[in-house]
Amino acid sequence: MIYFRQLFDTGSSTYTYLLGDLTQRVAVLIDPVREHLTLYLALLDEQNLKLLSVLETHIHADHITGASLLREQTGAKIMASLHGNARCADVQLQEGDTVQFGAETLTVLATPGHTMCCTSYLWHDRLFTGDTLLIGSCGRTDFQGGDAGMLYDSITHKIWTLPGETLVYPGHDDQHKHVSSVDQERESNPRLTGRSRDEFIAIMSSLNLPMPHMIDRAVPANQHCGQEVSEAA
Ligand SMILES: [Fe+2]
Repeated sequence: MIYFRQLFDTGSSTYTYLLGDLTQRVAVLIDPVREHLTLYLALLDEQNLKLLSVLETHIHADHITGASLLREQTGAKIMASLHGNARCADVQLQEGDTVQFGAETLTVLATPGHTMCCTSYLWHDRLFTGDTLLIGSCGRTDFQGGDAGMLYDSITHKIWTLPGETLVYPGHDDQHKHVSSVDQERESNPRLTGRSRDEFIAIMSSLNLPMPHMIDRAVPANQHCGQEVSEAA
């Protein structure tokens, strides 16, 4: 028996996912936002779930992760990509690793491009893509080691090879679209559908997006698993 909740942070349009095994009463959280610690603890308590792990899809630039506070409060382990250099993490993940909680297993897919450390997690028929693949869009590639060609390869060589009915749960959506599928994105994502690698790179280099207003605070904090640098030892 599984438990699954999609949670939303309105300030940064971030989706957080709580996945649980209701038989063995254990859970993991993907991309928690620091401001919502109380909500996460209440949900865990309500379902009588023990939080085993906090998983990051990448080092976020637009919000501060709740990973450190959750570790302090619950004893959960923080798991993040080896390529993010976040030495605060308890477990460094890489392609093909699995994360176990109760009878449940998540598979780690390295999907770099939006950032060097971007990781997607596959669980049953659900893929948690972070900012690698968004609904009708994708993460920007103009900072944190972003690389449009690498992002194109991650999406087209890795995500498009999953079964088309795989559900895509992104890290953000400001239009409340909640969920998509591999088929749907492959067929109707304006950034990717029918685009060559070079066309995609040209699109990404012409976006001219403003910097996320929290980037100078969020990235250093998230490299310390959500502790502000002044708070870190
Ligand atoms: Fe991001």
